[in-house]
Amino acid sequence: GSLPIGEVSTEDGFRFTCRLEKEDIVYGLGEANRGLNKRGFRYVSSCTDDRMHTETIQAMYAAHNFLIVAGRESVGLFFDYPARMVFDVGYTRMDTLAVTCQRADLDLYVITGESPYDIVRQFRRLIGPSYIPPKFAFGFGQSRWGYKTRADFCGVVDGYRKNHLPLDMLYLDIDYMDHYKDFTVNGEEFPDFPAFVAEMKDRGIYLVPIIDAGVKVEKGYNIYDEGVEKRYFCQRADGSDFVAAVWPGDTHFPDVLNPEARAWFGDQYRILTDAGIEAFWNDMNEPSIFYTPELTAQTRAQLEKAFQDGSYTPNMPARKKPEARGDYELFYHRSIAGTVRHDQVHNLYGFNMTRAAGEAFERIDPDRRFLMFSRSSYIGMHRYGGIWTGDNQSWWAHLLLNIRMMPSLNMCGFLYSGADLGGFGADTTRELLLRWLAFGIFTPLMRNHSALGTRRQEVYRFENQDAFRHIIELRYGLLPYIYSEYMKAALSDGMYARPLAFAYPEDERAKRVEDQLLIGESIMIAPVYEQNAVGRYVYLPERMKMVRFRSLTDREETVLEQGDHYIGIPLEEVALFIRPEHILPLAEKGGQSVEEVDFENLLLLDFTIEESTYEYYTDDGYGKDFENPANRKVFRKSAK
Ligand code: GLC
Repeated sequence: GSLPIGEVSTEDGFRFTCRLEKEDIVYGLGEANRGLNKRGFRYVSSCTDDRMHTETIQAMYAAHNFLIVAGRESVGLFFDYPARMVFDVGYTRMDTLAVTCQRADLDLYVITGESPYDIVRQFRRLIGPSYIPPKFAFGFGQSRWGYKTRADFCGVVDGYRKNHLPLDMLYLDIDYMDHYKDFTVNGEEFPDFPAFVAEMKDRGIYLVPIIDAGVKVEKGYNIYDEGVEKRYFCQRADGSDFVAAVWPGDTHFPDVLNPEARAWFGDQYRILTDAGIEAFWNDMNEPSIFYTPELTAQTRAQLEKAFQDGSYTPNMPARKKPEARGDYELFYHRSIAGTVRHDQVHNLYGFNMTRAAGEAFERIDPDRRFLMFSRSSYIGMHRYGGIWTGDNQSWWAHLLLNIRMMPSLNMCGFLYSGADLGGFGADTTRELLLRWLAFGIFTPLMRNHSALGTRRQEVYRFENQDAFRHIIELRYGLLPYIYSEYMKAALSDGMYARPLAFAYPEDERAKRVEDQLLIGESIMIAPVYEQNAVGRYVYLPERMKMVRFRSLTDREETVLEQGDHYIGIPLEEVALFIRPEHILPLAEKGGQSVEEVDFENLLLLDFTIEESTYEYYTDDGYGKDFENPANRKVFRKSAK
């Protein structure tokens, strides 16, 4: 039938269409490719493990089916549909938005409101509050696929601590496990894992182990044995356990859509929390499948051989995507809605794996926050964890993509998010890493991560560490503000990173800016994302005070008029812009870890014309007493 804003047809699957006026901007879609304004391309919601997300790629790791058509009137659209869905945003016809899927079995929410930001808030109220991590999760983390031995891990911490480079988290990628078996540790390297966790904590470091979706097929491995016995794994039509090869070789997928199996899988996290772990990342949960026994013998032989001799790469010609191969049609879930074939609920898998953990944390310690973020996600998962944006590349284009994606993720409830800083695949450069960090200090999840075989990119491996130290120290100095803004956004269904248009809705220029963001209430940022750039053009929607940080303590302030400015931003510096009548609290002493940062004695940078006020939020960072009035206070500055 016809809605006031568009047409719905259910004749041949589901099809929603609406007209796009020339001036309309389309926001949303969370973790999707290309611009902040999604117009002009086609996006597919079908969670996919695709590390080569070039400009052509339509499906990424997540499925976030919320968008806003913003024009003279604005409307929000949320398509709650768990399988493949196509968003043709002015691609087939420039003046038409078309959203299609196979089965006309979905809920469509239409949200009208005063402005795009108002629509976001209403939507967020509908989907429930965003996940809140512990305070240490706002520190800096170092990660790399390839750290294996105890010496590798200790060496990284030494590299940071010896060089006075702040660090709070050290990530354990798949090699900490015993043969990639979930919830095990390599006993040779870590004979006393709890002691290792405690030793790291004494150095101010939280360990963050990875958990993969697939459980290794191996008799005698208790999680495998129990899952098989209780029928907690996804099964084929004939009732046998479905087999998918991932890092450990053959695995079974826990049926996280089945509440009983979900609780069982979630309870396994206790093995690690009992060892002192308080932080996790969930991976390969699209779920990613390298190959299945059902593949044609020839393709399987090619893949198996490559896998065994180490020449396997996810982009091998023999490796079509699991969706295209039909892998997702081979197994079933026993969900609350009955038995359902995986492809029909595909986009809910990563969500429910993370939900398994989130629900388990409530049982393990209801008064404590745990760090949790996931690669795959669907709207709803934002209540249980954050996300990282998957395997990007050490490309300037992916730094820009990171900038543009942050507000879109926020619109969909994913506030705790970030990209692999420096780039995951391919070789980074000192310049790219510095510029990426200069943006990354503003993303809630701030992690340097890279792939096996690429150039090492721990910051202490590059020349002239002062530049890195200054940028990371600035993050720690900004933590009181970053944390305060994050918490206020999470507790009020607001956004931490916003497009300029959301604050300056009347400004036609601001609406078209896709490479500057508002971070919280008080500041605008304009990151440099081009090689060899010594500065960039910045558009100021109003008069602002630029603060240039050569380091946390070496600052220069300049008031700039509304309009366009070319701003020199040397590689070692960070510039930000304080909005009029706003305050930016700063912890001028910084710290080597979040624990060392003074959240009480703050220096108030400000751009006061008459009077500025700032509502400051802080708390103990680990408990859940969010509504305590003592967490909030107001800072005031007046011109006289
Ligand atoms: C996947 C993850 C990546 C991780 C790798 C090995 O590619 O996205 O972050 O390093 O697997 O576990």
